[in-house]
Amino acid sequence: MAVLTIRMWPDEVLRRKADPVTTVDDEVRKLLDDMAQTMYRQNGIGLAAPQIGVSRRLVTLDVPSEEEGMPGSGLILAVNPLISAREGRTVVTEGCLSFPGLEIDIQRAERITVEYLDQHGTPVSISCEGLLAVCFQHEVDHLDGVVFTDRVGLVRRRLALRDYDKSRRIDED
Ligand code: NI
Repeated sequence: MAVLTIRMWPDEVLRRKADPVTTVDDEVRKLLDDMAQTMYRQNGIGLAAPQIGVSRRLVTLDVPSEEEGMPGSGLILAVNPLISAREGRTVVTEGCLSFPGLEIDIQRAERITVEYLDQHGTPVSISCEGLLAVCFQHEVDHLDGVVFTDRVGLVRRRLALRDYDKSRRIDED
């Protein structure tokens, strides 16, 4: 297993529509393992393959419970995830490992159904809500070349990207 380098905005791979995975083989499983390691190392709760420079439809998630003392989602490895139903509205403050330090309130569907293949190629369908649903929507967006700053209006997007650019310049000094 390996910890991989996270691509930071405005890396062009984050804008590309990722390719579907045709076979869930050992190479794909290795990639998912490496993505999970990378996500945990960065204290992330979700990671999409384009964020490690691989334009394929792979996502890892491990979302904590919103209720104290309840179990979280555990590690989810998802191949070709597809959101097949969306319901309700919620606003959650999101971050993204490709935009370190930036947090934005984003409106998403509150409940979703998502279909994917697990690491063995077995079809999975889950209905979820809250933080896990939000995280799935954020990661599936990455597979379509959409980043979270695209999900707010123009004025808030400009402010957010200006703050992000400013903090990046300070980091580089
Ligand atoms: Ni992200």
